[in-house]
Amino acid sequence: MHRPIIETTDLSFAYHDGRPVLSEISLSILHEDSVGFIGPNGAGKSTLLMCFNGLLAPSRGRILVDGIPVARENLKEVRRKVGWMAQDSNDQLFMPTLFEDVAFGPLNLGLEQAEVLRRVDDALARVGLSEFRDRAPSHLSGGERKAAAIATVLSMQPEILLLDEPTNDLDHASRRALIDLLKGLPVTRVVASHDLEMILELCRRVILFDHGRVVAQGPTAEVLGNDELLRAHRLEAPLSLTLRR
Ligand SMILES: Nc1ncnc2c1ncn2[C@@H]1O[C@H](COP(=O)(O)OP(=O)(O)OP(=O)(O)O)[C@@H](O)[C@H]1O
Ligand SMILES: [Mg+2]
Repeated sequence: MHRPIIETTDLSFAYHDGRPVLSEISLSILHEDSVGFIGPNGAGKSTLLMCFNGLLAPSRGRILVDGIPVARENLKEVRRKVGWMAQDSNDQLFMPTLFEDVAFGPLNLGLEQAEVLRRVDDALARVGLSEFRDRAPSHLSGGERKAAAIATVLSMQPEILLLDEPTNDLDHASRRALIDLLKGLPVTRVVASHDLEMILELCRRVILFDHGRVVAQGPTAEVLGNDELLRAHRLEAPLSLTLRR
């Protein structure tokens, strides 16, 4: 876990309106580490995750994924390594059936049919959606769509998982199953979330963002245990941590 797998140097980003959304972000995420991105609404967490897999191009600075610059000519290679789950599942599900959505990535990798089938079956089973494989994603519930979006990422078997609010809309049992699943995957995980209990359980480190800047980072319990810091950035310590004191 000592080698950096995602590195950004002085990364800045603005959408078309030109307002700075990310400013001079330099950070390093280690191979097979589990890192939580926390911060108030609009802090820039989702935007940064989208820069990591090249969906958005920074206006300044650079990003390396496993040593490869995230740039147009390398996007295929980068996206083979980086699986990204959108905050809004509807952005990720666009095929007529769930099966086709989960098979889409593996087919694009040019895998053989038997391997594609195996991966789809495995991914759907892992998120508990095997019985819905022939259903239209638009006919799934919000939580089921979230699980489906996770399956589309798992079927790619990426080395790096970028998960944007993965527990939103999930019922208690599905949330628990997802946390346990993620804990067991030997990959690098970056999770942006307001579910700080989940972050506490899943992540070794956290990075706190506000107004597009890194304002704090460190071991999860240390950062989440700092009430004053959290309150200053519109967050609240998870109850289980408060009760431990
Ligand atoms: N397409 C866009 N065009 C212009 N501004 C945008 C666009 N998408 C997001 N923004 C702005 O960029 C900033 C960062 O948004 P982002 O979605 O990255 O925040 P976030 O930290 O993920 O927030 P949340 O906790 O609500 O998910 C916000 O001020 C937002 O209004
Ligand atoms: Mg977001």
